Amino acid sequence: MLTIALPKGRIAEETLAIFTELFGEGFEFESRKLILETHGFRFLNVRNQDVPTYVEHGAADLGVVGLDVITEKELEILDLLDLQLGKCKVAIGIRNEDELDWSRPDIKVATKMVNIARNYFASRAVGVEVIQLYGSIELAPLVGLADAIVDIVETGTTMRENGLKVAEEIMDSSAHLIANKNAYYAKKEEILELYSRVREVVERRNR
Ligand code: PRP
Repeated sequence: MLTIALPKGRIAEETLAIFTELFGEGFEFESRKLILETHGFRFLNVRNQDVPTYVEHGAADLGVVGLDVITEKELEILDLLDLQLGKCKVAIGIRNEDELDWSRPDIKVATKMVNIARNYFASRAVGVEVIQLYGSIELAPLVGLADAIVDIVETGTTMRENGLKVAEEIMDSSAHLIANKNAYYAKKEEILELYSRVREVVERRNR
């Protein structure tokens, strides 16, 4: 039996819709239950950021997680398939009235994604001070904690409603199906069968 870690939150519903299409019937976790066994699979209901941990440690064979998380955590996993859902961008945001002055030696950047932020500014040969936050990132430039943020932009509503604009896009992100490396070799047939069934659904949806 394959164990698959599914994320709560923004990409959960769309991921469940793929499996619903696969099984030909809907399924959902009972209110507080964290494990669901159905159609020969065991699904784990975990926080988005924790999906890679379950997969890296082999507690789950497979998982669904954003490319932004894969990139940020530099994961030791196999990236099997872009599910083409939960699409968003990682972008630099600044206040509407500001311009990002790349020549300044002391730009302060607030973010949850410290590695992505550091690597991006390093690739532009710009030194930055990265300030790690865990949420409500858009607040930082409004109260002088940072000059800019590096954050997820999906609809753009959060930035717009807080008087921020995108100064530069860093990367596109979407949800990917990932696998634990050992599980991939030990359960290759099962995983490849699921992979091709999921890929068919994804291709059909994007036709
Ligand atoms: C994410 C992200 C942005 C927002 C972007 O936050 O950090 O704040 O969504 O979405 P939008 O472009 O559609 O407005 P999330 O909802 O995960 O909350 P948190 O980061 O504040 O915990």
